[in-house]
Amino acid sequence: MGIRNLLFEHRDVENIQDIAVYEKHGGYRGLKKAVKMERSAVIEEIKTSGLRGRGGAGFPTGIKWSGIPQNDDKPHYIICNADEGEPGTYKDRELMLKLPHLLVEGMIIAGYALRGTAGYIYIRGEYVEPAWQVRKAIDQAYRAGYLGKNILGVKGFNFDLYIHMGAGSYECGEESALMSSLMGERGQPRLKFPHAPYPTVEGVWKSPTLINNVETFCAAAKILDMGGAEYARLGTERSKGTKIFSVSGHVARPANYEVEMGTPLMELIEAAGGVVGGALKAVIPGGSSVQIVRAEDCPRVNLDYESCQQNGTLLGSGGFMVFNDRTDIVLLMKRTAEFYMHESCGKCTPCREGTRWIYKILDRITSGGGQPGDVELLLDICSQIDGRSYCGLGDAAAWPIVGAIKAFREEFDYWIAHKRSPVGPGHVPPTPEVVNPLLTLVPA
Ligand SMILES: Cc1cc2nc3c(=O)[nH]c(=O)nc-3n(C[C@H](O)[C@H](O)[C@H](O)COP(=O)(O)O)c2cc1C
Ligand code: SF4
Repeated sequence: MGIRNLLFEHRDVENIQDIAVYEKHGGYRGLKKAVKMERSAVIEEIKTSGLRGRGGAGFPTGIKWSGIPQNDDKPHYIICNADEGEPGTYKDRELMLKLPHLLVEGMIIAGYALRGTAGYIYIRGEYVEPAWQVRKAIDQAYRAGYLGKNILGVKGFNFDLYIHMGAGSYECGEESALMSSLMGERGQPRLKFPHAPYPTVEGVWKSPTLINNVETFCAAAKILDMGGAEYARLGTERSKGTKIFSVSGHVARPANYEVEMGTPLMELIEAAGGVVGGALKAVIPGGSSVQIVRAEDCPRVNLDYESCQQNGTLLGSGGFMVFNDRTDIVLLMKRTAEFYMHESCGKCTPCREGTRWIYKILDRITSGGGQPGDVELLLDICSQIDGRSYCGLGDAAAWPIVGAIKAFREEFDYWIAHKRSPVGPGHVPPTPEVVNPLLTLVPA
């Protein structure tokens, strides 16, 4: 357990973005191995690895890949979700910036296994630099014969790869909204199974479509190289391999860290140089959508899907935020609520109205106007959003608020009773300057 640089193995090699350097360090070996295998065997290799999607939900990747029909005559599309909108998450950015060929290789392997016609990398609009690196990698891969027609001499294996820039909408990371956006429609979600077919059956342009996260495709490339069984030796019973965590907040060395699944949460804080500016107060392990964990509960949590769930939180996207005891949890939740209110696409009522309502109540509380019953009202609104919204953004808006009330109820009550922050000497109204999205501090 602990730090295990598998995807990051060659991250710091000079010019690893260049195809010659990448190949010198074993690059495209996984693809060369894959094209000598039956397509079904490649899918089996992914199944054997136990890889689960790294975009947030942890869906088993092998099962998703085997959902693409093998004997139809429709085009098949392979999509990489590089929207990375989850607050506190920046791992896909570094993967694309430093290891663009790893992503390209993973997507070509999927293209081979699933008889893909074309692949699209949907990159969030702000990620201009990572997009340039991926662009260069795609051009080099064409020149090397890894993309285009009859790839690596395999007759009929034709695969093209395109970049599509998003416009910076969090909702466009939700897979059905992403597909709409990619097709030039408004970036709003669509009906899902069982009310509509899975994307693997009917995705973009009504054709079978695979959508995976950047880290998932990168892991697939490694798995084909090292073998699924070898990959599955890492991690825990139900969380195999490694996971990259984007560590931010009150730590000495905020950065991306790749750890073996099952690593104790406290070990990651240590790896990031420990807590700064005060004692540890809380951690959000998987991006702003997941539930906050109090410091005293942190030693019980391991960084795998099972342990996080057993401890009332989620692994999510790996946006690992650390907070010291100068952090005001209610202000932090107000900032979080503001984000979801802003990003709600407005298609369904519970989320469109509910996210605004949550924000307004938190704004009232933190402006000194909190009323008895506000906490119950917040919980009631969240219960009307969670599970009742059209897509996962609604749930993502409700979970952190409910989690924070559960873990830090006394801070909400303090704000309402005393009309000031429990961590500061007086009520300091937040201004855009002092409210950092990640570090909501009350100045001493
Ligand atoms: C509101 C919302 C935003 C999302 N944003 C992202 C994102 O930025 N990147 C991502 O990979 N998955 C995101 N997801 C999850 C995707 O819908 C999808 O599950 C994922 O891309 C599948 O890839 P995986 O199986 O490799 O995890 C988001 C989901 C929701 C509900
Ligand atoms: S939950 Fe509803 S309003 Fe919110 S983003 Fe999804 S579809 Fe849009």
